[in-house]
Amino acid sequence: MPFIPSAHLVARKPRFRATQFAVFTIILSVIFLSASLATAQKVELSLDASKSGAKISRNLFGQFAEHLGHGIYDGIWVGPDSTIPNTRGIRNDVVAALRAIKVPDVRWPGGCFADEYHWRNGIGPQRAVTLNPNWGGVIEPNTFGTHEFMDFINQIGAEAYVSINVGSGTRHEAADWLEYMTTAQPTTLQKERAANGHSAPYKVAFLGIGNESWDCGGNMTPDYYLDQLKAYSHFVRNYNPTQQTNDQMLKIAVGPGGSGPRWTEWTDTIMKAYQNHTWSWDIDGLSMHNYTVVKWPPSFKSVGFGETEYAQILKDTLGMDSLIKEQSAIMDKYDPQKKVALVIDEWGAWYEPLPGSNPGFLVQQNSMRDAILAALNLNIFARHADRVRMANIAQMINVLQAMIITDKEKMVLTPTYYVFKMYLPFQDAAFVPVTFDAGTYQHDGITLPRVDAIAAKAADGKLWLEVTNLDPNQSAEIEVNLSGASAKSASGETLTAAKVDSVNSFDAPNTVVPKPVSTRAQGGKLTLKLEPKSVTVLSLEQ
Ligand code: AHR
Repeated sequence: MPFIPSAHLVARKPRFRATQFAVFTIILSVIFLSASLATAQKVELSLDASKSGAKISRNLFGQFAEHLGHGIYDGIWVGPDSTIPNTRGIRNDVVAALRAIKVPDVRWPGGCFADEYHWRNGIGPQRAVTLNPNWGGVIEPNTFGTHEFMDFINQIGAEAYVSINVGSGTRHEAADWLEYMTTAQPTTLQKERAANGHSAPYKVAFLGIGNESWDCGGNMTPDYYLDQLKAYSHFVRNYNPTQQTNDQMLKIAVGPGGSGPRWTEWTDTIMKAYQNHTWSWDIDGLSMHNYTVVKWPPSFKSVGFGETEYAQILKDTLGMDSLIKEQSAIMDKYDPQKKVALVIDEWGAWYEPLPGSNPGFLVQQNSMRDAILAALNLNIFARHADRVRMANIAQMINVLQAMIITDKEKMVLTPTYYVFKMYLPFQDAAFVPVTFDAGTYQHDGITLPRVDAIAAKAADGKLWLEVTNLDPNQSAEIEVNLSGASAKSASGETLTAAKVDSVNSFDAPNTVVPKPVSTRAQGGKLTLKLEPKSVTVLSLEQ
């Protein structure tokens, strides 16, 4: 071995190490790449488009907007004098974003707020200033009332789902509200509506008869609520001439808020009575509320969490399926023809309020986990589309699992918003059964299906497929088989992010946004690799 001065040794050693390191890195990357390719789980999906089933009602993609925190004020309403661009006081940016996801209906004014809402406070030039005892005890200016709500839904192209006050109001008050909104006859209430700027009747497509009447809506027993329901259903009439034969207003009764005897008794009481109902009362829907919360009070963080919390929340959200099955079984007993819809008019993730926010305002972030959660729930609703014909995510703007977050003039669209956008082709499409072996994703003792999928045929005959890869670490390679045909290509969009808790912020609004994907069949096989923790919607070309 030649003599090498120590200075050279010092100089050469790092170079030698750098080379070694580079080779080592390349070898490692190759191993890692082939490992990730090898571990991309193969999932075969088989679709039979000739077996299309129930219509996936567009109303499954409905929204809920309550007078709560910044859901209405700042989120929708900024007032006509605001420097934020608006049309008659309603934010233009929010309207444009909501039009783009074709919101079918908006449930308003609550929630718990609805059972303390007195509609007269929200009409006319002089608005009563009241309080919002449910949500932080803040001032309710009532500047957003009936006319502003109707203007808003008209601007976004949605229908009205109005919840009437059964808790602290009267039948008389609710009946007057409906007459005020819907009559075309020259009654005193019609003239008052015309004087307030709208002579033509409004359309009220859906009527919620109370909200959580077993809790914030009056703590009623099932029997007591049933008596209320019958009377309200009879007296609260819709007079809109265009809704007398076709397009009748659908009446939605308060239903269960969970699983177990308390809730099965509630549903049993209402549905048993419905089976024997007389001409003088009727319902078209039974509501169900189910939040993904794991434990009460909500303590899961909406951002800054890890894989364990990701898996725990998704596990909890999948419970929606058994809840629907439990309630549907009771409904089937009394209503085998499925005339009464199960309306899941409050659903979504409910986390700990963001630090520094008013706890009564239910402010939380919205991450990649929420996008997966939304897709899983929408898929569950679609699988039960024969009974579940309406759902309203809680809540549309700035509250709970929101589509949109605003701060003064700023607005950002959440990962959940993008899921609703990607699912547009499923609105009113016919459910197509898809079979697959979901496999499992396991973490920290929690086992979840690795993938989830639904398919549907749109009115124009196009075939659509959605696949969710729940596994946050491994990609999934899907192979699509069409019964009696061969899929030639597929194209669409995929939504994923670097981390399970990645969010869109005002500074980085495009962190979690869909990107295009496409594939062509090779050797008669149509395959596509889905990224970890992703939601993908594809149209299939035959
Ligand atoms: O969405 C927030 C609240 O949750 C609603 O006001 C109430 O109906 C439910 O308990």
